[in-house]
This record gives sequence, C-alpha cells and structure tokens, in this order.
Amino acid sequence: MCGIVGYTGPREAYPIVIKGLKRLEYRGYDSTGVALQNDGLKVYKKKGKVADLEETVVGKNLHAHAGIGHTRWATHGEPNDRNAHPHQSASGKLAMIHNGIIENYAQLKNELLKKGYSFKSDTDTEVLLNFIEEIMINNACSLEEAVRVALKRVVGAYVILLLNEDDPETIIAARKGSPLVIGVGKGEHFLGSDASPMLEYTKEVVYVNDYELAIIRPDELILKNLGNEKLTPYVQKLDLELAAIEKGGYDHFMLKEIFEQPQTIQDCLRGRLDAEAGTITMAGIEQYAEQIINAKRIVMVACGTSWHAGLVAEYIFEELCRINVEVEYASEFRYRNPVISEGDVIIAISQSGETADTLVAIETAKAKGAIILGVVNVVGSSIARISHAGAYTHAGPEIGVASTKAFTAQLAVLCMIALKIGYAKGTLSRERYMGLLKELNAIPEKLAIALTHSEHIRGLARKYMDARDFLYLGRGYNFPVALEGALKLKEISYIHAEGYPAAEMKHGPIALVDESLPVVFVATRDSYHEKVVSNMQEIKARKGMVVSVITEGDEVSTGLSNDVMQVPECDEILAPMLSVVPLQLLAYYIGVEKKLDVDKPRNLAKSVTVE
Ligand code: M6R
Repeated sequence: MCGIVGYTGPREAYPIVIKGLKRLEYRGYDSTGVALQNDGLKVYKKKGKVADLEETVVGKNLHAHAGIGHTRWATHGEPNDRNAHPHQSASGKLAMIHNGIIENYAQLKNELLKKGYSFKSDTDTEVLLNFIEEIMINNACSLEEAVRVALKRVVGAYVILLLNEDDPETIIAARKGSPLVIGVGKGEHFLGSDASPMLEYTKEVVYVNDYELAIIRPDELILKNLGNEKLTPYVQKLDLELAAIEKGGYDHFMLKEIFEQPQTIQDCLRGRLDAEAGTITMAGIEQYAEQIINAKRIVMVACGTSWHAGLVAEYIFEELCRINVEVEYASEFRYRNPVISEGDVIIAISQSGETADTLVAIETAKAKGAIILGVVNVVGSSIARISHAGAYTHAGPEIGVASTKAFTAQLAVLCMIALKIGYAKGTLSRERYMGLLKELNAIPEKLAIALTHSEHIRGLARKYMDARDFLYLGRGYNFPVALEGALKLKEISYIHAEGYPAAEMKHGPIALVDESLPVVFVATRDSYHEKVVSNMQEIKARKGMVVSVITEGDEVSTGLSNDVMQVPECDEILAPMLSVVPLQLLAYYIGVEKKLDVDKPRNLAKSVTVE
C-alpha cells in the first residue's frame, strides 16, 4: 500500500509528482504529501486525497527540479496531517517517504528517545528517518552510506525515497518487499510504485530488486546492493500505453474495467488458444508440464478476489486433471509451518504481483523445494519475478480498487493451464478438450452479451440498495462466485454481505432469512442446478427475496425469483467467467446509487504490500 513518486531533472517536479500521485491513488488515499527542493526543502502534506493537497498549496511557490510525493494507506498512526508523508528529520535537512512497515520501529525509537530525539508523528517512517540521520551525524558519512547502514538494522518491508537539502539534485531510494520502478529519461529520472507516473515521459524502466539501493541524479543512476557493490541496472522496455490507465469516457475505472472484460479475455487467449488446431501454447507452463502432471498436489495461494479465482480453479483442476488441489489464504499458509514436499506445485495468483502475504507464502514454499508458478497480471512484479515460471493474465492495468477484469482473466489463465495439463495427462478426453477450447474461445462474445443487461441491473441496484444485509449463494463452480459477489458488494457499497455454499445455508444462515433479506443465487444451468432450485424454494418458503443470476431462458429459476440477471449458456466449467459479471455490476451500481467513491472505497488500497 501507499504510492510513492519521485522526479529529478530539468522539468518542474511538482506537476509530475502530483500527476503521478493521482495515478497511484489506488494504492492508498488517507493522506498525501510532497517534498520539493526549492531553495531548501519544502514539505506540504495533508489528510485526504491528492485533490485536498492541491487546494492546500494554492499560491505557494512550488518551483523545483527535484521532488518526491506520497499517497498513504495508514499503518502506524491514524490518517491526519501530522502522520502524512513526507517526514522531515530532526535537523529538517532530510525528507523521506516510505511504503511498507518497519517492524522493529519501537526498538529503534527507544534507542533514539534515549538519545534525546522527539517525534512529531506516530509513524515508523519518522523513526527510520531519524535513525538514518543519527547514523549520518555519528559516522560523519554520506546519506547513501547512512541509509545502507540503517537498512541492515531494519526488520520489515520498505520502499524509501529520500531528499537531502545539501544535495538538491539527488534522490536516494531503496527497496525491500515493496515495489519500486525507476524511469530512465534523457537527463532525467522518474520514480514510482509502478510505471504509471512516468508513462508519458519514458518507456525505459528499471525494476529495483529487494536489498538494492539507488542513487539517482538527473543524468546518473547508480544501483548498489546493501554491501556497497555496484550493480548494472537492467533497463527494460515498458509495454504500456497511457490510454490503458485513463477512464476513457467511463464514470469510473471500475465500470471501464467491467466493460473491458470481453477484450481482456480476448487478449488473454490471443496467441495461446487455437480452438481449431486444438492447441494451448503457454511457454512457462510447458517448461514445467511434466512436474505438474506428476504432482501429488497443487496448492493455490492467494488473497481476496484472487483467492476466489483459486477456489474456482480447484474445482476445474480436480475435474480435468484429477490432481488434488488445496486453496490457501496466503496469510494463513505462511504462518502455519505448512507441510510442503519437494515436487509440490504452488500456483500463486495475484493481480498486482505485490501482495505481501502471497509473496512470503511462495518464498516459504520455494525454500522447501516446491515449484512456484505465478498467475499474475502486472508484468515484472515481485511475484512474477520470484516464481519459477507462470503465465501473465494480460488484463491490462486494473485501477479500480475492486478487482473485476483481473478475476475473469485469472479464471481464463487457470482454465487454460488445467485444460493443457488434463489433456496431456490423459484425464481429459479429446472430445471434451476440443469442446472446451471452443467454449473458451466464445467467452469474449458471451461476456459482451452479459454486459448488455447493465441498465436492467442498474434498476435492480436502485431496488435493493437500501437492504441492510445480503446473502449470496452458489454451488460447485458458482460457490466461489457467490463469495466474490459478496466481497464486491461489501467493498463497494459497505453493505454487509455473506457468501455461502447454497446447501450449507440450511446449517445456519437460513435463520437470517426474512422478507427484508435479498438472497442472491448464482444459479446458472449446470449439474447442480436442480439442487440450487430446491435451495431457492427453501428461501421462498421463508419469504426471502430471491435475486438470481440465471442462464438465459431458464424459466424455472425465473418463476422462483423476484428478479433475475441473465447470462448466456456455457459449459459449467467456464460459467464463473460469465456469472460474476452481473454481480460486479450490481455492486458497482449500488455503490454509485449510494454516492460512494467506488474506485477508492474507504479503508482499502489496491495492493496490500503490508501483511
Ligand atoms: O493483487 P492481488 O490479486 O494479490 O490482491 C489480492 C487482494 O488484495 C484483492 O483481490 C482484493 O481482495 C480486492 N480489493 C478485491 O476486490
């Protein structure tokens, strides 16, 4: 969480930093701040979003050729002006922004308190900054050296950017566990938590690795490890266009991303799936195909929506590949000394590729000899880089905090892997394999049809927006979709919602049912359908309001439902890619009708880089 931006070069730094922060606001938006080298260090910071900071600085002299900026998702200390970044050191000569958590900050703080330091904020960041300054003074060393020494004592995760009043063109940056990208321009450098702040200026980027430190000047980029050895920066070409991170006429990124799904799935399948020839080409998977085929088990690790994709994949892999699959919350897996045997295959699923828990979970499994495959959206992200191999989802930048197009793209990739492995292993017949390839190929078209019902769903949003609670039910492949629908509603509309397996409902949640409770059934026509219809009847009998996602033309379910949302017919294995769409739209429109900030729901951040 938290977004960081930096610039040093001949241009005005402030507009670049502010624009960059707006693009990174998805990472956190509790407070915002900038530090500028403007005849001495000038720091401006404010509780709230970037727009609030902009109002605060009206009339100020913001001229500077080097600056850093931060948009915060609070960890230590409540969101207020005091705790906003950048922080300044005791002398006022250093300014620092930080994304991450310093776990041993209390110990460092005690040491500094004993030396007479006092603190203006409640943050771990201010502690680290003063710790660095203390080393600089005591050792009479450069800032770069002090940062290196300090970081050897630090436990936790960080990306830090520092400005030093006495060296106004230089930015010192370091990373462990949180993302940092450096944009290389002509006589200028850009920094960001991702590449979006630098897109219109350069396509040449360096992804900084853990335990690396960079000294950045307009015409110089020096990369070192914490042992002070120089490293050669690996400059990569960025494959990302500006249009991909703009709203393109939609009211919100979330709506744009929901509507992009026919295209994102097309992009995800392109060059991989050839339904006519009966082939799926996935180089990363092919490399490990034998190990996957022979794996005794596959463990999916992920968080949030990505975890739901893992749950769908569990059903698909077990059905098509006959391999035992376990799906783990990365946060639980990493802490419970999991039993991993050599040859176990871990599939890490992550949109951002930076989720701290997922990252550590796979490091844990890798250390125990497992093969790590990443199903990741952000190219060059940490999870992509530490995985042995994998497959990108190619969904393009997802900026709305609620994950939508990333989920369906994850399903498409996981499905292709399962099809490939199942067919190669012989657990999937040629006939079924060919049929599923055809069906998968048709998903973009069917997604486009599902989206034509958006106005109808907007009407339902108006009808149900005042409900206090929702229950989402589904069975089989659609059970994880029920969980996902409930998660979308919670995060976007702040309405309490629970996802449950439809059959389990009788073991408790049915007690909640009365005439005020909308019960959303994910009830597309599949092998569980009759059972789900019985569950609908049970809800009806107790006067619950039944709202169903159904296959077009399903009259039985329509007859039992107060309202329906239709999706085209498709094979049950692929159904979640379609049945989730009405639920994304329902959550979106309820949020909009409630006049909530759907792209930046309260308390959330797009990528959770703290545990
Ligand atoms: O980037 P990741 O896929 O690893 O993120 C995992 C979760 O933080 C994410 O899916 C989160 O649950 C979303 N806000 C859900 O919409």
